[in-house]
Amino acid sequence: MNREDYIAVFDSGVGGVSVLKELMKLMPRERFYYFGDSINAPYGLKSTEEVRALTICAAEKLFSLGCKALVVACNTATAAAIDSLRRRWPERIIVGIEPAIKLACDRHPGGTIGLMATNVTLREQKLAELIRRCRQDCEILILPSPGVVELVEAGKSDSAEAVALMQQELGPYQGALDAIVLGCTHYPFMKQAIRQVIGAEVELLDGSCGTARETLRRLKDADLCANGYGELIIENSSPDSSMVQLAYNLLNDSVTAQS
Ligand code: DGL
Repeated sequence: MNREDYIAVFDSGVGGVSVLKELMKLMPRERFYYFGDSINAPYGLKSTEEVRALTICAAEKLFSLGCKALVVACNTATAAAIDSLRRRWPERIIVGIEPAIKLACDRHPGGTIGLMATNVTLREQKLAELIRRCRQDCEILILPSPGVVELVEAGKSDSAEAVALMQQELGPYQGALDAIVLGCTHYPFMKQAIRQVIGAEVELLDGSCGTARETLRRLKDADLCANGYGELIIENSSPDSSMVQLAYNLLNDSVTAQS
């Protein structure tokens, strides 16, 4: 393994770009290889076994390209497959994003925390353990989030449709929450729509910064930090070339409003 090898970043689609952004901010000298599996998205509606198989398949591909580390920028894939990935590649650096429940509970002791996540993340044992470890005296409410991933994958995160969906799902929680944990990497792209419904006072938290910091820590420990000029390759499993363009647009915050 070489310092100048790529860091692979993987998600079921374009959502992991929200993590890639933080990784690139923290480690501008690194070379990143982003792979989004949009042809198979959404992962959140599949069985755990399907998500695990897809994630292992993506990891195999990325490690065979010679990547020095893998960032699973998908809460769903982490929930379903991170243990299997670590068993299969014990010598590799593998970091997986998880819902920022600890951060939310630390910042809002005794508060009411909303959690948005996919079905797979919500039903996996990992989440129950995370909540048990971090909850303290907070109340955690599971918020429904159907259709959000599909909207972001369609490039409509900044649309009237997005606001209408959030109004329908989050409207009943207006005034009831201190923070919302965005437990899927697609959701940060819906922040504007969520804010319009839920207001400015509710803190929106996700695990992207923590994941980036953990990746840097692991690379430093292994003496594998690059010292180059930075580079980015984005690949998508979809034959629709606009998915790669959408990923770049999300990276540059330039998704145009559509209705
Ligand atoms: N972006 C993924 C996550 O963080 C899930 C999206 C999907 O359902 O495919 O959970």
